[in-house]
Amino acid sequence: MSLTILGIESSCDDTAAAILRRDGARVAILSNAVSSQTDLHAAFGGVVPELAARAHAEMLDVVVEQAVAEAGVPLAEIDAIAVTAGPGLIGGVLSGVMAAKGLAMGLGKPLIGVNHLAGHALTPHLTDDLSFPYLLLLVSGGHCQFLRVDGVEAFVRLGGTIDDAPGEAFDKVARLLGLPQPGGPSVEQAARDGDAKRFQLPRPLLDRPGCDLSFSGLKTAVLRVRDGLIADQGGLAEQDRADLCAGFQKAVADVLAEKSRRALAVSDVTAFAVAGGVAANRTLRARLQSVTDLPFAAPPLALCTDNAAMIAYAGMLAFEGGRSDDMTLAARPRWPLDADAAPMIGSGKKGAKA
Ligand code: KG4
Ligand code: ZN
Repeated sequence: MSLTILGIESSCDDTAAAILRRDGARVAILSNAVSSQTDLHAAFGGVVPELAARAHAEMLDVVVEQAVAEAGVPLAEIDAIAVTAGPGLIGGVLSGVMAAKGLAMGLGKPLIGVNHLAGHALTPHLTDDLSFPYLLLLVSGGHCQFLRVDGVEAFVRLGGTIDDAPGEAFDKVARLLGLPQPGGPSVEQAARDGDAKRFQLPRPLLDRPGCDLSFSGLKTAVLRVRDGLIADQGGLAEQDRADLCAGFQKAVADVLAEKSRRALAVSDVTAFAVAGGVAANRTLRARLQSVTDLPFAAPPLALCTDNAAMIAYAGMLAFEGGRSDDMTLAARPRWPLDADAAPMIGSGKKGAKA
């Protein structure tokens, strides 16, 4: 049986559209178009929701056309339209939901509202064929949580950040040290020549049981060390930056590795996966892989960061399970995957994330 799904994503700062097709057991990504707003927000040090929403509204048609052209599949051959209906910045989510409703109505095709976090969480099921239940560590600029993925629409959150997301901390540390944005890649590069042991940095929440995380204190500790160095020597040398980046990166990896070990110990899963932009970090990937003998999956970067292929896939699985939405589908700024988990305190610079 063949099934072709158009996915649409606009919950943060990427406008994306993708087409996936299932033929029997095989699912192929026929196209995966993304238009990033990084340059638009660069001068503001974070995503400006109003600018983001307008840019999404302008780019949605363009990325859908691009996805259709790349896939070589006419819109008439699309069987259903999946769209991120939350959580995220409400203006962006609304733009995507409106565009998807227009397409669904115009083409006379079913509409499926997808939880953005479910998209991330189901990606290793697509890329590495992981079977349920598996543990997912989602680490990006806006998200940080441990999810046990029990099935297509069954998730248990085992813990998450109580303040910043790790990508947010990487970005702030880069800013503190005068390194370019996005901070993750520049901190990783600077850390290559650094001595991770030179500065004592905290390992937040390691002394407390459970799988919750915190990154705000670590970032403040980097700020204090930086200010101390500037007071003592009048500025930062290249080596100081490298050592601070290496120390910070090691602290993040230590904390995520130990909390992953704890999450694995209580989750009774068959595999461990990591997703989100921070999963691009090589030191971190290696550390996470080393915490378990279970199969380990880290999807390719284009599917780790925000994209519409993951939305199309989550929509495809939901649709195959018999779920679709009607024109009352609402855009939701908050939408926890695990409705039974206590709400997290932190939100992250990219908007409230469940
Ligand atoms: O998933 P993503 O593209 O967007 C969302 O946050 O939703 O993640 C972007 C985040 C940024 O904070 C960026 O600094 C971080 O991922 N990042 C990295 C690396 N590459 C990107 N963090 C650490 N190491 C990297 N190599
Ligand atoms: Zn995301």
